[in-house]
Amino acid sequence: MAAHNTDQLWGSVTKALHWSIALLIICNIAIAQWISTLEVDVPGDPEMWQFLTPLHKSIGMLALVFIVVRLAWAFSGTRPNLPTDTPQWQRNLTYSVHGLLYMLILLVPIAGYATSSAFDSRFELFGLFVVPNAVPENETVATVTYWLHFVSAWTLAGLVALHAASAVWHHAIKKDDILTRMLPRLAADQDSLSNPAD
Ligand code: HEM
Ligand code: HEM
Repeated sequence: MAAHNTDQLWGSVTKALHWSIALLIICNIAIAQWISTLEVDVPGDPEMWQFLTPLHKSIGMLALVFIVVRLAWAFSGTRPNLPTDTPQWQRNLTYSVHGLLYMLILLVPIAGYATSSAFDSRFELFGLFVVPNAVPENETVATVTYWLHFVSAWTLAGLVALHAASAVWHHAIKKDDILTRMLPRLAADQDSLSNPAD
């Protein structure tokens, strides 16, 4: 499989980055949601908080590295065309949602990192080394960036649900190759074997 995208297919680099980032972001939303249910006075919860918070931050920082590479890769090459029968309003909606996804996946971890730094709440990246703070301690900055992190993360979660539902709609209802062309090669091959007409 070619590394680069063409005007028909996604290359292996885009696929690997798309699915790794999706996995990291979805795990992190689940972990953040779990953290938000923990209580100070419930036995075991403070220990769980101490375990989950640096894990959430570490996964987010790893995602941020992948996201920067993804953005550089996405905007330095071509991308496959949408099917020719796609109406203009659907093209506009697709490009708007993809554009917003790109903006939010960058904003969410940056705002999270800024929040952690402004609270001076240092953490070890997967227990390896202490990540330096990006901004000096400041409660006002921390409050604003936390709000930004919270709102942008939940907006991202909503858009991802819409985006995934649209991919499934393409596959199950419209029966085009939008979903399969983003899947790893093996799964895409198996699919085209079971649909030899594709
Ligand atoms: C792609 C990555 C990320 C996603 C999807 C994400 C998502 C979220 C969400 C949804 C919440 C709010 C949970 C709630 O109360 O409902 C949250 C909280 C938080 N996030 Fe993130 N986050 C990401 C990356 C980061 C990073 C990189 C950091 C810091 C280095 C960070 C630090 C925090 C902190 C400090 C909180 C508050 C947790 C608490 O209440 O103790 N996040 N995150
Ligand atoms: C956090 C999760 C996700 C994020 C941030 C995300 C983001 C993106 C972005 C930005 C693109 C546009 C690529 C470009 O035009 O350069 C894209 C494409 C795509 N995504 Fe996702 N995605 C996520 C999860 C998913 C899931 C769960 C599915 C399937 C169920 C999915 C299916 C697809 C497909 C099929 C495409 C290709 C669309 C096309 O060929 O025009 N994505 N994704």
